[in-house]
Amino acid sequence: MKNICVIGAGTMGNGIAHVFAQTGFSVTLVDVSQEQLDRALATISKNLDRQVAKGSLTPEVKEKALAGIVTHTSIAAGVQNADLVVEAATENVDLKLTIFRQIDEHAPAACILASNTSSISITRIASVTKRPEHVIGMHFMNPVPVMKLVEIINGYATSAQVSAAIVELSRQLGKVPCVVNDYPGFIANRILMPMINEAIYSLYEGVAGVEEIDTVMKLGMAHPMGPLQLADFIGLDVCLSILNVLHDGFGNPKYAPCPLLVNMVTAKKLGVKSGEGFYTYTPGSKDLVVSPRFLK
Ligand SMILES: NC(=O)c1ccc[n+]([C@@H]2O[C@H](COP(=O)([O-])OP(=O)(O)OC[C@H]3O[C@@H](n4cnc5c(N)ncnc54)[C@H](O)[C@@H]3O)[C@@H](O)[C@H]2O)c1
Repeated sequence: MKNICVIGAGTMGNGIAHVFAQTGFSVTLVDVSQEQLDRALATISKNLDRQVAKGSLTPEVKEKALAGIVTHTSIAAGVQNADLVVEAATENVDLKLTIFRQIDEHAPAACILASNTSSISITRIASVTKRPEHVIGMHFMNPVPVMKLVEIINGYATSAQVSAAIVELSRQLGKVPCVVNDYPGFIANRILMPMINEAIYSLYEGVAGVEEIDTVMKLGMAHPMGPLQLADFIGLDVCLSILNVLHDGFGNPKYAPCPLLVNMVTAKKLGVKSGEGFYTYTPGSKDLVVSPRFLK
């Protein structure tokens, strides 16, 4: 594989483009918004500079990586020479199905189509293409240049050759691939989201406060971040939507989202991105301050 097309230039798309370009691949980055593409290139450049400053990258590799990224606002143009497309657009089923129909129509026949979705069924995405055996999940973690894991999701029809090719490619990127099958939440979110939900239930039922819950998990289980802080970081709306995928997909009440989480999302208290969740966030400050709502 030489030519990689990344669809979506947001948080994940710019990180994915960054690691492919840094490894020497030619990257085409596609987004509907030119402004977002410009922002993504600036972010990639800044993050590469940080690696150069740390000595983990030479200035030559940085320049080569940046020169290896071209941008497009059209999927048809972006995928036309791709060996692999990694879709990292907004998490919305209808949007992803539309994007995959377009990619399938315009990408070369041998091209592998991957999605970075956190929760949408790979089998469902594959079903709208004429090449379901070439469709696979490639779930990078945030921030992509730093996090080692790639959760690789085999859809019902994904071929063994395609899966093996993506495992090999992930290793080439310096990542550690883990192959899992396509069931709701895959592995990462199937295990993480019920833990976050249970932490919210513990708060809701008054078992302990925000600080106590997070401290128990940080100091007792050696988690780098407590589950409530992590939920704020991921976005409470994202957590709710993944819990709903688990709940709908398995039909098991154990995945029912906590009513407190539902209320907070309805009230637009979404965590870091809205300035308030379980904690309050002030631009420029790294202090972890529990939201007044949860102070005793
Ligand atoms: N943010 C995370 O921590 C994280 C982690 C793992 C996986 N994911 C998954 O990665 C994907 C992207 O998430 P994100 O956080 O980067 O989102 P984001 O909102 O930061 O970026 C999404 C980008 O997709 C673009 N887009 C929307 N419609 C498009 C179209 N038709 N064609 C091209 N681009 C289009 C948007 O303009 C935006 O720039 C989602 O599927 C999400 O579930 C996110």
